Amino acid sequence: MRPPCSTHCKKPIAWGPTLQALRSIALAAARQRTEATALAAALRSALAELTNNMRAEEQHALPLARAVLTAQDWAEIDRAFLDPDNPDLRQRAQAELHRLFHGVGMAASDPIGVVDDSAGQPQPNAVAGASSDWLLQARDVESCYGRIKALKGINIRVRRGETVALVGANGAGKTTFLRTLSGVQPMSAGSVVFDGEDISQLRSDIRVRRGICQSPEGRQLFNPLSIEDNLRLGAYTRPRRQVEADLESVYGMFPVLKEKRSLAAGHLSGGQQQMLAIGRALMGRPSLLLLDEPSMGLAPLLVQEVFHVIKMLRDQGMTILLVEQNALAALAIADRGYVLETGSVTLTGTGRALIDNEEIRTAYLGM
Ligand SMILES: Nc1ncnc2c1ncn2[C@@H]1O[C@H](COP(=O)(O)OP(=O)(O)O)[C@@H](O)[C@H]1O
Ligand SMILES: [Mg+2]
Repeated sequence: MRPPCSTHCKKPIAWGPTLQALRSIALAAARQRTEATALAAALRSALAELTNNMRAEEQHALPLARAVLTAQDWAEIDRAFLDPDNPDLRQRAQAELHRLFHGVGMAASDPIGVVDDSAGQPQPNAVAGASSDWLLQARDVESCYGRIKALKGINIRVRRGETVALVGANGAGKTTFLRTLSGVQPMSAGSVVFDGEDISQLRSDIRVRRGICQSPEGRQLFNPLSIEDNLRLGAYTRPRRQVEADLESVYGMFPVLKEKRSLAAGHLSGGQQQMLAIGRALMGRPSLLLLDEPSMGLAPLLVQEVFHVIKMLRDQGMTILLVEQNALAALAIADRGYVLETGSVTLTGTGRALIDNEEIRTAYLGM
């Protein structure tokens, strides 16, 4: 491949210092509980810088690439992009995104629990079937990473009070689907109807306000922050007066978090960190709880404990969409399940029926 031309390439944004500055302004604003004008100004300027950079890429870098790259170059790019072991295009980009995501989360700490009471109220974009049993209806959902289609028309529905498992091999698109539901991953086609409202165009924070709360893959805790601050961050869309009671109810569910409440989250064991990630999602008062690989990387005893917690939530009437590579355990506690393969649903049925399915037993359950 030819060396890239540097004439039009804008200097990349130094996100580290930008985010650090945003973080300290956000924390100062949260401490003083004043109107966060400084924070708003800093966010606006960071956003402007980002927009400029994206515009420069679109106006200069991409046309230039189109002009100078050959079909063979593009094929090479595609190959590199699809290579799961390429650290440049996968892990590094993912790590960078996570860092940005955390940074924005930190910068957003100011409005913790200060929104008005409109959260969770009936909403405008109501569509037919609002009173139906289906809390969530994802129809023909597609999502892409660049030119690669990771979701190829997913149809998944979840009834109120149901626990639905979404299982499939690594790379099937489970995380992408949950992130698309949360609104942090762009959807290129299809629709998502939640509680009778078409939420396809809504921002992710508004979706949290509607009651879609996610415990993300890899937990994504704010390790240097205290356990309690991590929980409070989960409540950033809630009216402040409800936060203390919700905190107590999460502590009631996970007493170990209360014991260690002032310790940094990074001090917790893997299992406890997972409880904290679930607790943080519960602080948003979900009506649909999205759990992405809650048992990942845990020792067998802790896996049992995590599934015990999920069962307890299910028995309390929580609606849960559970993504797991541990297909057997997930299907065993699920009312229904979907099997995802390379971006498409290939099978669906009750948890029991899927466990009994010969194909599934061989492919996913190791039986
Ligand atoms: N940030 C990303 N950039 C490019 N491709 C990605 C990215 N994240 C995931 N993918 C690709 O999308 C597909 C689905 O990935 P993912 O949703 O993470 O699957 P799962 O959660 O089922 O393991 C995979 O082919 C994966 O390589
Ligand atoms: Mg995943």
